[in-house]
Amino acid sequence: MKVEFKVNDRKHSIEIEPGELLVETLRRLGYKSVKHACDTASCGACSVQLDGNPVLSCRTFTAAVDGHEIKTVEAFSKEGELSAVQKALVEEGAVQCGFCIPALVVTAEALLNENPNPTEEEIKTYLNGNLCRCTGYVSQNHAIMKAAELRRNSASVPAGNQGELS
Ligand code: FES
Ligand code: FES
Repeated sequence: MKVEFKVNDRKHSIEIEPGELLVETLRRLGYKSVKHACDTASCGACSVQLDGNPVLSCRTFTAAVDGHEIKTVEAFSKEGELSAVQKALVEEGAVQCGFCIPALVVTAEALLNENPNPTEEEIKTYLNGNLCRCTGYVSQNHAIMKAAELRRNSASVPAGNQGELS
């Protein structure tokens, strides 16, 4: 069957197998940041945004995204510039082996779009499906608090003064 959808603003029109999973399709299209890991809806490493909401691509049929928009981690660094979430993760030392990071960024970006000023408890709850075997989560949670603050500060700077942030 044929489906059409966008990934990171790029349109794809492709043939898929019945029952094909979104994680398989995205990796076939070259989006290797989307990890095919546990395959049991347990780890969150396959998370992508579907119309702005985080979903597990190992539990989403590609047929179901026909006409919809997907975002992977590549959507969040414009022209090589890291997003506030990505910068904060690096600055807080929250990136170790890196395996969980693409999905964590995708999920954290969705959280901050929904809730620009989350508490640490709200961050833990929202991200409880994104497992990390390296960090113990403390540095990741601190990074997301920091990213939220960076985003709020950036949003409050009047147009024309954005350069003062860098
Ligand atoms: S691969 Fe989808 S949740 Fe682990
Ligand atoms: S940094 Fe290694 S799994 Fe998260």
